[in-house]
Amino acid sequence: MPDFIPYELIMKKRDGAEHTKDEIEYLIREYTKGNLPDYQMSAWLMAVYFRKMTSKERAYLTMAMAKSGDMIDLSFIKKKKVDKHSTGGVGDKVSIPLAPLVASYGVSVPMMSGRGLGHTGGTLDKLESIPGFRTNLSETEYKEIVSRIGVAIISQTERVAPADKKMYALRDVTATVDNLDLITASILSKKLAAGPDAIVLDVKTGSGAFMQRFEDSKALAIAMVDICKNAGKDVVALITDMDQPLGEKIGNALEIEESIEVLKDQGPPDVVEIVLELGGWMLVLGEKAGSLKEGREMIKKAIANSQGLKKFESMVKAQGGDPLVVRDLSILPKSSVSKEVLASKSGIIVKMDAREIGISALLLGAGRETKDSKLDLGAGIVLHKKVGDRLKKEESIATLYSANNEKLEKAKERFIKAIEIRDKPPQKRPLIFETIKM
Ligand code: URA
Repeated sequence: MPDFIPYELIMKKRDGAEHTKDEIEYLIREYTKGNLPDYQMSAWLMAVYFRKMTSKERAYLTMAMAKSGDMIDLSFIKKKKVDKHSTGGVGDKVSIPLAPLVASYGVSVPMMSGRGLGHTGGTLDKLESIPGFRTNLSETEYKEIVSRIGVAIISQTERVAPADKKMYALRDVTATVDNLDLITASILSKKLAAGPDAIVLDVKTGSGAFMQRFEDSKALAIAMVDICKNAGKDVVALITDMDQPLGEKIGNALEIEESIEVLKDQGPPDVVEIVLELGGWMLVLGEKAGSLKEGREMIKKAIANSQGLKKFESMVKAQGGDPLVVRDLSILPKSSVSKEVLASKSGIIVKMDAREIGISALLLGAGRETKDSKLDLGAGIVLHKKVGDRLKKEESIATLYSANNEKLEKAKERFIKAIEIRDKPPQKRPLIFETIKM
């Protein structure tokens, strides 16, 4: 492969020209090896941020990042392998009930998930609130569990997409995170390296999402679908609401509780609806359902007859967790103190700002204030009301849980600011905005 001069490549992007495949592969390869210094990669990332990429460049970048480490080979598993990814939000515990529900029909669900980031929660942190549950499995253990029981949810191994790990850390401190090209390549490089045949994407929109405006979320969804197609993967993207938190429980152990409630047919309607829609599509892409309608019915059935719950129990056991959790939620961590948030006036809730509520949960101990913060797995929020609900003055909107009163007070102040009560009902927002298949 030809060698290039980094200075010239930075200049090329700075001036708005299109890179070739070789140029992008060179940059990613040399940066991963440590031959290209952080300052040159930072300059190039900022040039991409302002000048953007063509869809060709974006595809080259994604594949170069995916190939920067191990491409996990799951071809020995003969079933269809279908993954799901959410761009992240508050109260989004969907992967936890969804993966075992889909796997209960014989579709393989190999999932590499993330930790909480800023105001958003992470699937791995939530699962680790189950006593004994391990997410840092080796590649061998991961393959064994996926092939034996059909589902595993683990952290990205060190060897998957190392270029993204380095680049994400750099983007985080150089104000280059919120860029469509770089987000697309970052998310999909990890997903493609994990070896699925098909992917269902849940792209969030609203105050608690990375992309707050619908048009930006749609552009991200289209870019991601385009790359997956280019990489030969079947894909469907949904654009779903993240203007208010999803479900009623926010926080690590609390979201495990709500996930188990979903699997026991006692889940809140918004979480259940997202699980049915994403699950329906996963069964279609996994070639077990002939249509979305049929797929949704199958997921409903797997909830009603507990086959999803049984698969969840097998997954928990296989990953070292205490399977008793499915029968006894009291084994989950609990916070020692709690506080009710009461309505300051009567009316209708017109706004529950997801980002602010996510930060309130973080202040309670459910998220990390610094990279090294230790999580309080029992901390979080239980919402008793959602947008559109009527309430009376002094009625409880939510209960906050934490380790001490000081944290409760700080979080309560933030929570109150997130809530708006008016006399008139709000304009209705859809839960699912659009489905993109292309
Ligand atoms: N999540 C990722 O993994 N990467 C991004 O760039 C943004 C969100």
